[in-house]
Amino acid sequence: MTAFEISIIVPTLNEAANLPALCERVGRALVGRSYEIRIVDDNSKDNTPQVCAELAKTYPLILMTRTQPKNGLGGAVLFGLQAALGEILVVMDADLQHPPEKLPELIAPLEKNEADFVIGSRYVAGGTTEGKWGIFRQINSKVATLLARPFAGRTQDPMSGFFALKKSTLQSATHITPLGYKIGLELMCKCRVKQVKEIPIDFAARQHGESKLSLKEQFRYLEHLSRLYDFTYPRLSPISKFLLVSLFGWFVGLGTFGAYFDADHLIRTAILAYSCALALTMLFHVRYIRTQRDFILESRPWLSFFGVAAAELIVVSLTAWWLSRRLHYFHPVEFWTIAYGMGLAVRYVLRKELLQDVRGLRKEPRPMEMNR
Ligand code: GDD
Ligand code: MN
Repeated sequence: MTAFEISIIVPTLNEAANLPALCERVGRALVGRSYEIRIVDDNSKDNTPQVCAELAKTYPLILMTRTQPKNGLGGAVLFGLQAALGEILVVMDADLQHPPEKLPELIAPLEKNEADFVIGSRYVAGGTTEGKWGIFRQINSKVATLLARPFAGRTQDPMSGFFALKKSTLQSATHITPLGYKIGLELMCKCRVKQVKEIPIDFAARQHGESKLSLKEQFRYLEHLSRLYDFTYPRLSPISKFLLVSLFGWFVGLGTFGAYFDADHLIRTAILAYSCALALTMLFHVRYIRTQRDFILESRPWLSFFGVAAAELIVVSLTAWWLSRRLHYFHPVEFWTIAYGMGLAVRYVLRKELLQDVRGLRKEPRPMEMNR
Protein backbone atom coordinates (compact mmCIF):
# COMPACT_ATOMS: atom_id res chain seq x y z
CA MET A 1 0.00 0.00 0.00
CA THR A 2 1.37 3.34 -0.98
CA ALA A 3 0.79 6.40 1.12
CA PHE A 4 -0.72 9.40 -0.55
CA GLU A 5 -0.08 12.97 0.27
CA ILE A 6 -3.76 13.76 0.43
CA SER A 7 -6.96 11.78 0.98
CA ILE A 8 -10.24 13.40 0.11
CA ILE A 9 -13.24 11.87 1.82
CA VAL A 10 -16.56 12.46 0.13
CA PRO A 11 -19.73 11.08 1.77
CA THR A 12 -22.50 10.49 -0.74
CA LEU A 13 -26.16 9.70 -0.80
CA ASN A 14 -27.55 9.76 -4.33
CA GLU A 15 -24.95 12.12 -5.73
CA ALA A 16 -24.00 10.30 -8.95
CA ALA A 17 -24.88 13.33 -11.07
CA ASN A 18 -22.39 15.49 -9.19
CA LEU A 19 -19.42 13.13 -9.17
CA PRO A 20 -17.95 13.70 -12.67
CA ALA A 21 -17.64 17.45 -12.18
CA LEU A 22 -16.34 16.93 -8.66
CA CYS A 23 -13.54 14.64 -9.82
CA GLU A 24 -12.60 16.91 -12.67
CA ARG A 25 -12.36 20.01 -10.50
CA VAL A 26 -10.48 18.18 -7.73
CA GLY A 27 -8.09 16.80 -10.34
CA ARG A 28 -7.41 20.25 -11.69
CA ALA A 29 -6.90 21.74 -8.24
CA LEU A 30 -4.45 19.04 -7.17
CA VAL A 31 -2.56 18.52 -10.41
CA GLY A 32 0.95 17.22 -9.76
CA ARG A 33 0.20 15.97 -6.26
CA SER A 34 -0.47 12.46 -5.05
CA TYR A 35 -4.00 12.07 -3.78
CA GLU A 36 -6.94 9.72 -3.53
CA ILE A 37 -10.66 10.42 -3.56
CA ARG A 38 -12.66 8.17 -1.26
CA ILE A 39 -16.34 8.12 -1.96
CA VAL A 40 -18.20 6.74 1.05
CA ASP A 41 -21.62 5.75 -0.17
CA ASP A 42 -24.58 4.56 1.86
CA ASN A 43 -26.41 2.39 -0.68
CA SER A 44 -27.47 5.17 -3.01
CA LYS A 45 -30.44 4.33 -5.16
CA ASP A 46 -29.00 6.07 -8.21
CA ASN A 47 -26.19 4.70 -10.38
CA THR A 48 -23.34 5.75 -8.09
CA PRO A 49 -21.44 2.42 -8.49
CA GLN A 50 -21.44 2.61 -12.31
CA VAL A 51 -20.44 6.27 -12.34
CA CYS A 52 -17.64 5.59 -9.86
CA ALA A 53 -16.37 2.61 -11.87
CA GLU A 54 -16.20 4.81 -14.94
CA LEU A 55 -14.46 7.68 -13.13
CA ALA A 56 -11.95 5.34 -11.50
CA LYS A 57 -10.46 4.77 -14.96
CA THR A 58 -9.33 8.38 -15.06
CA TYR A 59 -9.06 9.48 -11.44
CA PRO A 60 -7.57 7.94 -8.27
CA LEU A 61 -11.05 7.21 -7.01
CA ILE A 62 -12.09 4.51 -4.57
CA LEU A 63 -15.70 3.69 -3.84
CA MET A 64 -16.41 2.46 -0.32
CA THR A 65 -19.97 1.27 0.15
CA ARG A 66 -21.43 0.87 3.59
CA THR A 67 -23.93 -1.90 3.26
CA GLN A 68 -25.24 -1.34 6.78
CA PRO A 69 -24.96 2.39 7.32
CA LYS A 70 -24.70 3.58 10.92
CA ASN A 71 -24.60 7.05 12.40
CA GLY A 72 -25.53 8.84 9.18
CA LEU A 73 -23.24 11.33 7.58
CA GLY A 74 -20.83 11.42 10.53
CA GLY A 75 -20.51 7.66 10.52
CA ALA A 76 -19.80 7.65 6.78
CA VAL A 77 -17.11 10.31 7.10
CA LEU A 78 -15.40 8.48 9.95
CA PHE A 79 -15.51 5.23 7.99
CA GLY A 80 -13.70 6.94 5.12
CA LEU A 81 -11.20 8.70 7.37
CA GLN A 82 -10.20 5.47 9.07
CA ALA A 83 -9.45 3.79 5.76
CA ALA A 84 -7.68 6.78 4.21
CA LEU A 85 -4.04 6.38 3.22
CA GLY A 86 -3.13 10.06 2.98
CA GLU A 87 -1.09 12.04 5.45
CA ILE A 88 -3.48 14.93 5.04
CA LEU A 89 -7.19 14.23 5.30
CA VAL A 90 -9.84 16.41 3.71
CA VAL A 91 -13.59 16.03 4.04
CA MET A 92 -15.92 17.65 1.53
CA ASP A 93 -19.46 17.32 0.19
CA ALA A 94 -20.17 15.78 -3.18
CA ASP A 95 -22.71 18.35 -4.30
CA LEU A 96 -20.09 20.96 -5.28
CA GLN A 97 -21.19 23.37 -2.61
CA HIS A 98 -17.58 23.23 -1.43
CA PRO A 99 -15.28 24.65 -4.12
CA PRO A 100 -12.49 22.13 -4.94
CA GLU A 101 -10.37 25.06 -6.15
CA LYS A 102 -9.85 25.93 -2.49
CA LEU A 103 -8.15 22.63 -1.69
CA PRO A 104 -4.56 23.93 -1.93
CA GLU A 105 -5.38 26.82 0.36
CA LEU A 106 -7.12 24.50 2.81
CA ILE A 107 -4.17 22.17 2.97
CA ALA A 108 -1.38 24.78 3.12
CA PRO A 109 -1.67 25.66 6.85
CA LEU A 110 -1.29 21.96 7.74
CA GLU A 111 1.77 21.57 5.57
CA LYS A 112 3.34 24.65 7.10
CA ASN A 113 2.38 23.50 10.60
CA GLU A 114 0.44 26.70 11.12
CA ALA A 115 -2.72 24.90 12.22
CA ASP A 116 -3.88 21.46 13.19
CA PHE A 117 -7.39 21.87 11.82
CA VAL A 118 -8.47 23.96 8.84
CA ILE A 119 -12.08 24.87 8.06
CA GLY A 120 -13.46 26.00 4.74
CA SER A 121 -15.55 28.79 6.20
CA ARG A 122 -18.60 30.61 4.92
CA TYR A 123 -18.56 33.23 7.61
CA VAL A 124 -15.07 34.72 7.73
CA ALA A 125 -14.29 37.80 5.67
CA GLY A 126 -14.31 36.80 2.02
CA GLY A 127 -16.61 33.82 2.52
CA THR A 128 -20.20 33.72 1.26
CA THR A 129 -23.31 31.58 1.42
CA GLU A 130 -25.78 30.89 -1.33
CA GLY A 131 -28.92 32.94 -1.20
CA LYS A 132 -30.24 34.97 1.69
CA TRP A 133 -31.29 33.32 4.91
CA GLY A 134 -34.48 34.17 6.75
CA ILE A 135 -34.20 35.69 10.21
CA PHE A 136 -35.16 32.43 11.93
CA ARG A 137 -32.47 30.49 10.14
CA GLN A 138 -29.92 33.17 10.99
CA ILE A 139 -30.71 33.11 14.71
CA ASN A 140 -30.77 29.32 14.65
CA SER A 141 -27.31 29.25 13.11
CA LYS A 142 -25.93 31.87 15.55
CA VAL A 143 -27.17 29.96 18.59
CA ALA A 144 -25.86 26.68 17.21
CA THR A 145 -22.45 28.26 16.71
CA LEU A 146 -22.39 29.83 20.17
CA LEU A 147 -23.21 26.50 21.80
CA ALA A 148 -20.22 24.99 20.04
CA ARG A 149 -17.78 27.56 21.45
CA PRO A 150 -16.21 25.29 24.09
CA PHE A 151 -14.93 22.90 21.43
CA ALA A 152 -14.34 25.14 18.45
CA GLY A 153 -13.00 28.27 20.06
CA ARG A 154 -13.81 31.51 18.36
CA THR A 155 -14.25 30.00 14.93
CA GLN A 156 -17.04 31.43 12.82
CA ASP A 157 -18.13 28.28 11.02
CA PRO A 158 -17.57 25.22 13.22
CA MET A 159 -20.43 23.33 11.51
CA SER A 160 -18.79 23.39 8.13
CA GLY A 161 -18.62 20.08 6.32
CA PHE A 162 -15.46 21.20 4.47
CA PHE A 163 -12.33 20.75 6.56
CA ALA A 164 -8.84 19.28 6.68
CA LEU A 165 -6.60 17.75 9.32
CA LYS A 166 -3.52 15.57 9.53
CA LYS A 167 -3.75 11.85 9.97
CA SER A 168 -1.57 12.14 13.09
CA THR A 169 -4.14 14.50 14.62
CA LEU A 170 -6.95 12.08 13.91
CA GLN A 171 -4.98 9.28 15.51
CA SER A 172 -4.60 11.27 18.70
CA ALA A 173 -8.38 11.25 19.18
CA THR A 174 -10.15 9.32 21.88
CA HIS A 175 -13.81 8.38 22.15
CA ILE A 176 -15.00 9.37 18.70
CA THR A 177 -18.71 8.67 18.62
CA PRO A 178 -20.11 10.24 15.47
CA LEU A 179 -23.70 11.34 15.43
CA GLY A 180 -25.37 13.13 12.59
CA TYR A 181 -24.00 15.98 10.53
CA LYS A 182 -21.43 17.75 12.64
CA ILE A 183 -18.49 15.41 12.28
CA GLY A 184 -16.06 18.32 11.96
CA LEU A 185 -17.11 19.59 15.37
CA GLU A 186 -16.82 16.10 16.81
CA LEU A 187 -13.26 15.82 15.53
CA MET A 188 -12.24 19.27 16.75
CA CYS A 189 -13.48 18.33 20.20
CA LYS A 190 -12.19 14.77 20.43
CA CYS A 191 -8.81 15.49 18.82
CA ARG A 192 -8.49 18.42 21.22
CA VAL A 193 -7.17 20.59 18.43
CA LYS A 194 -5.41 23.75 19.47
CA GLN A 195 -4.94 25.82 16.36
CA VAL A 196 -7.91 26.12 14.07
CA LYS A 197 -7.66 28.17 10.93
CA GLU A 198 -10.51 29.28 8.71
CA ILE A 199 -10.18 29.77 4.97
CA PRO A 200 -12.99 31.73 3.32
CA ILE A 201 -15.05 29.85 0.74
CA ASP A 202 -17.96 30.67 -1.51
CA PHE A 203 -20.59 28.17 -0.46
CA ALA A 204 -22.13 27.49 -3.86
CA ALA A 205 -25.68 26.45 -4.66
CA ARG A 206 -26.20 22.73 -4.99
CA GLN A 207 -25.59 21.42 -8.51
CA HIS A 208 -27.96 18.45 -8.63
CA GLY A 209 -30.27 16.68 -6.20
CA GLU A 210 -31.42 17.98 -2.85
CA SER A 211 -30.13 18.57 0.67
CA LYS A 212 -30.53 15.80 3.23
CA LEU A 213 -30.42 18.15 6.19
CA SER A 214 -33.72 17.74 8.03
CA LEU A 215 -35.30 19.02 11.22
CA LYS A 216 -34.49 15.68 12.75
CA GLU A 217 -30.82 16.45 12.14
CA GLN A 218 -31.19 19.65 14.11
CA PHE A 219 -32.46 17.75 17.13
CA ARG A 220 -29.65 15.30 16.69
CA TYR A 221 -27.31 18.24 16.94
CA LEU A 222 -28.59 19.00 20.43
CA GLU A 223 -27.94 15.44 21.46
CA HIS A 224 -24.52 15.64 19.87
CA LEU A 225 -23.72 18.84 21.78
CA SER A 226 -24.82 17.19 24.99
CA ARG A 227 -22.29 14.42 24.42
CA LEU A 228 -19.53 16.84 23.55
CA TYR A 229 -20.18 18.78 26.75
CA ASP A 230 -19.96 15.54 28.70
CA PHE A 231 -16.62 14.83 27.08
CA THR A 232 -15.18 18.28 27.71
CA TYR A 233 -16.66 18.78 31.19
CA PRO A 234 -17.04 15.25 32.55
CA ARG A 235 -18.17 16.39 36.01
CA LEU A 236 -19.91 19.67 35.43
CA SER A 237 -21.92 18.63 32.40
CA PRO A 238 -23.91 15.68 33.81
CA ILE A 239 -24.65 17.47 37.05
CA SER A 240 -25.87 20.54 35.15
CA LYS A 241 -28.19 18.37 33.13
CA PHE A 242 -29.52 16.72 36.29
CA LEU A 243 -30.18 20.13 37.81
CA LEU A 244 -31.83 21.41 34.65
CA VAL A 245 -34.21 18.47 34.44
CA SER A 246 -34.90 18.80 38.17
CA LEU A 247 -35.77 22.43 37.77
CA PHE A 248 -38.16 21.63 34.92
CA GLY A 249 -39.74 18.93 37.07
CA TRP A 250 -40.18 21.34 39.94
CA PHE A 251 -42.03 23.78 37.68
CA VAL A 252 -44.30 21.17 36.14
CA GLY A 253 -45.03 19.69 39.57
CA LEU A 254 -45.71 23.08 41.08
CA GLY A 255 -48.21 23.84 38.32
CA THR A 256 -50.04 20.60 39.04
CA PHE A 257 -49.86 21.04 42.80
CA GLY A 258 -51.28 24.54 42.52
CA ALA A 259 -54.01 23.57 40.08
CA TYR A 260 -55.29 20.67 42.21
CA PHE A 261 -54.53 22.19 45.58
CA ASP A 262 -56.80 20.81 48.27
CA ALA A 263 -55.85 21.33 51.91
CA ASP A 264 -57.71 18.17 52.93
CA HIS A 265 -55.97 15.91 50.45
CA LEU A 266 -52.39 17.05 50.50
CA ILE A 267 -50.84 13.62 50.15
CA ARG A 268 -52.92 12.77 47.12
CA THR A 269 -52.13 16.10 45.47
CA ALA A 270 -48.43 15.73 46.15
CA ILE A 271 -48.42 12.27 44.58
CA LEU A 272 -50.23 13.59 41.54
CA ALA A 273 -47.82 16.50 41.16
CA TYR A 274 -44.80 14.29 41.62
CA SER A 275 -46.14 11.86 39.02
CA CYS A 276 -46.30 14.69 36.51
CA ALA A 277 -42.71 15.62 37.27
CA LEU A 278 -41.79 11.95 36.82
CA ALA A 279 -43.54 11.85 33.46
CA LEU A 280 -41.34 14.71 32.32
CA THR A 281 -38.24 12.95 33.57
CA MET A 282 -39.36 9.92 31.65
CA LEU A 283 -39.26 11.89 28.40
CA PHE A 284 -35.60 12.60 29.02
CA HIS A 285 -35.05 9.00 30.01
CA VAL A 286 -36.53 7.77 26.74
CA ARG A 287 -34.03 9.89 24.84
CA TYR A 288 -31.20 8.77 27.07
CA ILE A 289 -31.96 5.12 26.48
CA ARG A 290 -32.57 5.52 22.77
CA THR A 291 -29.41 7.41 21.98
CA GLN A 292 -27.10 5.75 24.47
CA ARG A 293 -28.22 2.14 24.21
CA ASP A 294 -24.77 0.98 23.14
CA PHE A 295 -23.14 2.65 26.11
CA ILE A 296 -25.51 1.89 28.98
CA LEU A 297 -24.11 -0.74 31.30
CA GLU A 298 -27.36 -1.66 32.98
CA SER A 299 -29.18 -4.42 31.18
CA ARG A 300 -32.68 -3.25 32.18
CA PRO A 301 -32.65 0.53 32.31
CA TRP A 302 -36.45 0.77 32.41
CA LEU A 303 -36.79 -1.57 35.34
CA SER A 304 -34.40 0.53 37.38
CA PHE A 305 -36.19 3.69 36.30
CA PHE A 306 -39.54 2.47 37.59
CA GLY A 307 -37.99 0.97 40.69
CA VAL A 308 -36.39 4.25 41.60
CA ALA A 309 -39.54 6.17 40.66
CA ALA A 310 -41.60 4.02 43.03
CA ALA A 311 -39.15 4.70 45.86
CA GLU A 312 -39.33 8.42 45.10
CA LEU A 313 -43.12 8.36 45.21
CA ILE A 314 -43.14 6.57 48.56
CA VAL A 315 -40.77 9.10 50.08
CA VAL A 316 -42.78 11.99 48.65
CA SER A 317 -45.99 10.58 50.16
CA LEU A 318 -44.32 10.09 53.54
CA THR A 319 -42.95 13.61 53.42
CA ALA A 320 -46.34 15.03 52.52
CA TRP A 321 -47.97 13.06 55.34
CA TRP A 322 -45.38 14.21 57.85
CA LEU A 323 -45.57 17.84 56.73
CA SER A 324 -49.36 17.95 56.81
CA ARG A 325 -49.34 16.63 60.37
CA ARG A 326 -46.62 18.93 61.65
CA LEU A 327 -47.27 22.18 59.88
CA HIS A 328 -50.38 24.24 60.27
CA TYR A 329 -49.32 27.23 58.28
CA PHE A 330 -47.46 26.77 55.06
CA HIS A 331 -47.38 28.10 51.58
CA PRO A 332 -48.15 25.60 48.80
CA VAL A 333 -44.82 26.45 47.14
CA GLU A 334 -43.02 25.65 50.36
CA PHE A 335 -44.89 22.41 50.81
CA TRP A 336 -44.28 21.27 47.25
CA THR A 337 -40.62 22.26 47.28
CA ILE A 338 -39.87 20.24 50.40
CA ALA A 339 -41.74 17.17 49.16
CA TYR A 340 -40.14 17.40 45.73
CA GLY A 341 -36.68 17.91 47.22
CA MET A 342 -37.02 14.72 49.24
CA GLY A 343 -38.03 12.81 46.11
CA LEU A 344 -35.05 14.20 44.23
CA ALA A 345 -32.66 13.33 47.01
CA VAL A 346 -33.85 9.73 46.87
CA ARG A 347 -33.44 9.68 43.11
CA TYR A 348 -29.93 11.03 43.28
CA VAL A 349 -28.78 8.66 45.99
CA LEU A 350 -30.35 5.54 44.49
CA ARG A 351 -29.24 6.22 40.93
CA LYS A 352 -25.74 7.24 41.77
CA GLU A 353 -24.81 5.21 44.82
CA LEU A 354 -26.85 2.09 44.38
CA LEU A 355 -27.12 1.73 40.62
CA GLN A 356 -23.79 3.36 39.89
CA ASP A 357 -25.55 5.28 37.14
CA VAL A 358 -22.71 7.64 36.40
CA ARG A 359 -23.75 9.58 33.35
CA GLY A 360 -21.45 11.73 31.36
CA LEU A 361 -18.50 10.59 29.33
CA ARG A 362 -19.48 7.56 27.30
CA LYS A 363 -16.90 4.99 26.44
CA GLU A 364 -16.88 3.57 22.97
CA PRO A 365 -19.31 0.69 22.57
CA ARG A 366 -16.52 -1.46 21.19
CA PRO A 367 -12.84 -0.84 20.49
CA MET A 368 -12.45 1.59 17.65
CA GLU A 369 -10.22 0.73 14.76
CA MET A 370 -8.53 4.06 15.05
CA ASN A 371 -4.93 3.26 15.73
CA ARG A 372 -4.39 0.25 13.59
N1 GDD B 1 -22.72 8.43 3.02
C1 GDD B 1 -23.63 9.35 3.41
N2 GDD B 1 -24.58 9.01 4.35
N3 GDD B 1 -23.60 10.58 2.87
C2 GDD B 1 -24.53 11.48 3.26
C3 GDD B 1 -25.52 11.20 4.22
C4 GDD B 1 -25.53 9.88 4.78
O1 GDD B 1 -26.37 9.54 5.63
N4 GDD B 1 -26.28 12.32 4.39
C5 GDD B 1 -25.76 13.25 3.56
N5 GDD B 1 -24.71 12.75 2.86
C6 GDD B 1 -23.82 13.44 1.91
C7 GDD B 1 -24.52 14.10 0.76
O2 GDD B 1 -24.69 13.23 -0.32
C8 GDD B 1 -23.57 15.25 0.45
O3 GDD B 1 -22.50 14.82 -0.37
C9 GDD B 1 -23.02 15.63 1.80
O4 GDD B 1 -23.18 14.48 2.62
C10 GDD B 1 -23.74 16.84 2.43
O5 GDD B 1 -25.13 16.59 2.44
P1 GDD B 1 -26.18 17.73 2.09
O6 GDD B 1 -27.52 17.11 2.27
O7 GDD B 1 -25.86 18.39 0.79
O8 GDD B 1 -25.92 18.73 3.30
P2 GDD B 1 -26.16 20.28 3.35
O9 GDD B 1 -25.65 20.96 2.13
O10 GDD B 1 -27.55 20.54 3.78
O11 GDD B 1 -25.20 20.62 4.61
C11 GDD B 1 -23.85 20.98 4.44
O12 GDD B 1 -23.63 22.16 5.15
C12 GDD B 1 -23.82 22.04 6.55
C13 GDD B 1 -23.63 23.37 7.22
O13 GDD B 1 -24.66 24.22 6.85
C14 GDD B 1 -22.92 19.87 4.98
O14 GDD B 1 -21.59 20.20 4.62
C15 GDD B 1 -23.00 19.72 6.48
O15 GDD B 1 -21.98 18.82 6.93
C16 GDD B 1 -22.83 21.06 7.12
O16 GDD B 1 -23.01 20.92 8.53
MN1 MN C 1 -25.21 20.27 0.33
